[in-house]
Amino acid sequence: MGLKIALLLGGTSSERDVSLASGIRVAEALRTCGHEVRAIDPARGPLSDDEQRALATGRVVQTAPPSQEALRRMAREALPSFASNLPRQGDADVVFLGLHGGSGEDGTIQALLDLGGVPYTGSGHLASALAMDKDLSKHLFRQANVSTAKWLMAPAGVDEVNTALGLPVIVKPSKQGSTVGLSIVRNASELQPAVDEAFNFDDEVMIEEFIAGRELTVGILGNMALPVGEIIPKHEIYDYECKYTAGMADERFPAELTKQETARVQDEALRAFRALKLRGCARIDFRMAKDGTFYCLEANTLPGMTQTSLIPQAAAAAGISFPELCDRIVRLALGDHARAGIV
Ligand SMILES: Nc1ncnc2c1ncn2[C@@H]1O[C@H](COP(=O)(O)OP(=O)(O)O)[C@@H](O)[C@H]1O
Ligand SMILES: [Mg+2]
Repeated sequence: MGLKIALLLGGTSSERDVSLASGIRVAEALRTCGHEVRAIDPARGPLSDDEQRALATGRVVQTAPPSQEALRRMAREALPSFASNLPRQGDADVVFLGLHGGSGEDGTIQALLDLGGVPYTGSGHLASALAMDKDLSKHLFRQANVSTAKWLMAPAGVDEVNTALGLPVIVKPSKQGSTVGLSIVRNASELQPAVDEAFNFDDEVMIEEFIAGRELTVGILGNMALPVGEIIPKHEIYDYECKYTAGMADERFPAELTKQETARVQDEALRAFRALKLRGCARIDFRMAKDGTFYCLEANTLPGMTQTSLIPQAAAAAGISFPELCDRIVRLALGDHARAGIV
């Protein structure tokens, strides 16, 4: 039996374009599973059939995110209709969250949906907020014995950074995604400009030890780790352009790792998932240092869902098609573990 699904996509975060590109694929996939899908942009309202067709055929994601000013303007204009655009109990059997970043991923919309009494995909509001906050996440990772790179919160002087971490370091906003506002700092003179840049995107900025090595990601679906992926970006770090421009990163599923390494990083990913009390589907990002240590960077509670995104690729490597993946995510939200493939 098909379900009535309200799919939320777009929103007002830096990752709005990514969400539109992903969300439209999810809508198509859920419809092929026999569900009735209404696509709603919380910032603008329900999408007409024409708008959905235009999205499905157009190139949505630019090489850079929308400006902060444009997003702030949109949020201001959208605010009055924002809550009224969110589905309430009875409007839908379940809400599929196709949002990325900002209030769609940080627990805010999850809390509003809790008030409305509709089940939704992915993590609850507290877990979402924890995962969005890289500083708090890392404290919980440490507590659960999940290795994570050493870090300091800004402001921190050059001497302190040199002593505690050593250069190079990564400077990034604590609560952002898509590598927005992130830089590598190799010389002491670059530290302050990097911190200033990151503060444009968040009121908390972290300075983290740079982990040279490989870039890995592990998808979790329910209680199961999917095949590990390796990302080989054309740039030194996996930046916005590499993430969203075709051909700017090589992605390998499964990653070339030994059986033991695979088991180890999958176990770390599951422990990170549990440490943050995540639910449903999430993606945990790692760096693998030259000595073989895996360093957990962060958890993504609403990972990208275009057919070429990492979670769909990981699912495909496990023999799970894209529509089946979307359907299982819905089943997990409804607690239907048998149909979500969990035994
Ligand atoms: N400590 C680090 N060492 C090396 N590379 C890093 C580090 N932190 C981030 N990066 C690079 O920047 C990318 C984005 O960082 P991440 O912490 O995953 O934030 P987000 O994806 O939320 O923007 C990573 O995929 C990685 O390529
Ligand atoms: Mg990441």
